[in-house]
Amino acid sequence: MERDIKKIISEMTLEEKAGMCSGEDFWHLKAVERLGIPAVMVSDGPHGLRKQPESADHLGIGESIVAVCFPAACATASSFDTELMNEMGKTLGEECQAEDLSVLLGPAVNIKRSPLCGRNFEYLSEDPYLAGKMAAAYIKGVQSWDVGTSMKHYAANNQEFNRMSCSSNLSERTFREIYLPAFETAVKEAQPKTIMCSYNKINGTYASENRHLLTEILRDEWGFEGYVMTDWGAVADRVKGIVAGLDLEMPGSGGVNDAKIVAAVKDGNLDESLLDKAVENILKVVFSYADNRHPEAVFDRDADHEKAVAIETECAVLLENNGVLPLSGDKKIVYIGEYAEKPRYQGGGSSHINASKVSSALESAKSKGRAVSYVKGFPADKDEENEAELLAAVNAAKEAEAAVIFAGLPDVIESEGYDRKDMKLPACQNKLIEEVLKVQPNTVVVLHNGSPIEAPWADKAAAVLEMYLGGQGVGEAADRLLYGEVNPSGRLAETFPVKLEDNPSYLNFPGDGLNVDYAEGVYVGYRYYDTKKMPVRWAFGHGLSYTTYEYSNLKMPSEILGDEGSVKVSVDVKNTGSLAGKEVVQLYVSDKNGTAGRPVKELKGFSKVALAPGETKTVEFTLTARELSFYHEGLSDWYAPSGTYEVLVGHASDEIALKGELSFQTAKRPPLYVSGSTTLGELMAHPVTAPIVGQMMQSMQEKMGSMMGGGAEENANPLGTDAAMMEAMMKGMPLKSLASFAGAEAAAQIEQMMSALNQALGNV
Ligand code: BGC
Repeated sequence: MERDIKKIISEMTLEEKAGMCSGEDFWHLKAVERLGIPAVMVSDGPHGLRKQPESADHLGIGESIVAVCFPAACATASSFDTELMNEMGKTLGEECQAEDLSVLLGPAVNIKRSPLCGRNFEYLSEDPYLAGKMAAAYIKGVQSWDVGTSMKHYAANNQEFNRMSCSSNLSERTFREIYLPAFETAVKEAQPKTIMCSYNKINGTYASENRHLLTEILRDEWGFEGYVMTDWGAVADRVKGIVAGLDLEMPGSGGVNDAKIVAAVKDGNLDESLLDKAVENILKVVFSYADNRHPEAVFDRDADHEKAVAIETECAVLLENNGVLPLSGDKKIVYIGEYAEKPRYQGGGSSHINASKVSSALESAKSKGRAVSYVKGFPADKDEENEAELLAAVNAAKEAEAAVIFAGLPDVIESEGYDRKDMKLPACQNKLIEEVLKVQPNTVVVLHNGSPIEAPWADKAAAVLEMYLGGQGVGEAADRLLYGEVNPSGRLAETFPVKLEDNPSYLNFPGDGLNVDYAEGVYVGYRYYDTKKMPVRWAFGHGLSYTTYEYSNLKMPSEILGDEGSVKVSVDVKNTGSLAGKEVVQLYVSDKNGTAGRPVKELKGFSKVALAPGETKTVEFTLTARELSFYHEGLSDWYAPSGTYEVLVGHASDEIALKGELSFQTAKRPPLYVSGSTTLGELMAHPVTAPIVGQMMQSMQEKMGSMMGGGAEENANPLGTDAAMMEAMMKGMPLKSLASFAGAEAAAQIEQMMSALNQALGNV
């Protein structure tokens, strides 16, 4: 049905329009019955439905309907599988239709700046490219059921400490390259129906009243068409918000802010057309849901539980394996750690799901008749050492053929609302792992955590399997992976540093409560560790398999890439082992032009391919100028200098198999305004000014040569070392200093020359 939304708005009173811009209650928008506007409901999100029928809260404390808890984003991102993400989105979209939810509040795409952020488990990655692609796939899936998504938390909300008021201070380049692209990609590729702005300030301005963020970037540059809502309680100045491009306030302010909007319009302080625009944005999405209901949708909790199990098997990451895995069903194995019985499968806060059922690895092993015994060893909910349990675990491990320790972070350590204090597992768990390793070399550690942990025992463990917060099917998934029913295929979407202090944000996290300076700039995650050549525990993109893969035949384009258009890169990947598996082919790009301030490589493509034993597939990637570019603040645009770029393809960021080179040619030029501080080097590097100053350099070189005691003739020799030295020194010379060296005649001409250069550059 085509609605004439503008006509509906023209029939609304000023009060009704202001009222439309805030929630009726915690989860509903307002109805205007006489105009046929229904009171639609929104709900958390992101990895299941936290639909609250009555009591309402934004911290996951009150009751919500029984639903299916899918793996959290920390896990799903590790699948590196956009199709899987899309399937999960579709399942959630159908669940939403069945439960009459117009918008699912997710995905959460904030970048994992520090391993300590309490909400990292809900976020996808430290890498914006991966986060953007995975988010887009999820959004397309949910929205295929005519249900909206609310991509959150827009933007630069990367910690929980004082998240509701602290200012995230960062450069425009860092913002554009690291903290915005996941939002950008998903807006451009999947057009989420709504965006949720974050609580925090960005460079001093609240996200909820930040016009640069909500209008200039989001709508004008990226073409966002839906509505922007606040995070729950994120409004600062409501009227400023309307002007900035904030459409909907949630959960509402009991009418206080609506009245401010009405007053501002009446006083002439708010242009009513801006209010009309906000209402239009909201109503478009309300009706796109209300007019496209799907009576055929069902919420089949049992079927969706099976999907949750299957998805998690694609997400878990095999971090270490000396061959002990997969286990065989008749081996005498002891399971240790309470997580074997009571897995930790989700994090605390607004994403907390009332799970329909939870499978444990122990129960799964027993139901399949595996020769598994169990010792609790340590509790799942706290750090509490128990001598008797420790002893029992060590003794059982000694007797068994292998031990599997189910370790993890207790709920209380990792949640929305606060950050972690350190990166450690509870001391009781580390101690037990060390003690068991002393008596049982075949010890496997299975991890249940939402964010990296320090693993001082990693080199001694026979295997480490990262399950993350794997949703309600995590136990069955662990069983299938441990016993080789499914071949692990997850890859880390974040780096595990050796220790917390290695993390680039360490000196500036979480700030003083008022401000947090993103001083590490674009060097986030592997961009930092790789550039520093710093050893890490497990690298970005790392993940083992029960089979092996071989790369060959990297085909690079022969043509030169330009500002427009694209080129193709392809590579063959072969399963060289005897088990079927899935390889994640990763493509990174490296700027080889000596450009200042660029990470040594950045992910710009990935593809997950299923391969039967012996099978080879060709994987193709498309590259455009954007994949080579950084954000140039002078140009206010993406920019890559003309020259050579290396393309690196392989299994992980630290396991590059093949490299090739790509040529790029651009017509873009960073702006250059010539002043007394402009150096000769800058002028020599610019095609317009280079020929003009070339001549001058030559005579300068001669003069400087004689001043330094050499003969002009020998110093002018372009092949002589002195000449090279001279040139290198002169490159750093600012025009204002020329007078000291070039003589009175040249000095008199400097002003004239600067204006000639500016004219040649088109600077008026
Ligand atoms: C969270 C959001 C959530 C909202 C509603 C807020 O505290 O930051 O992610 O969607 O509450 O529960």
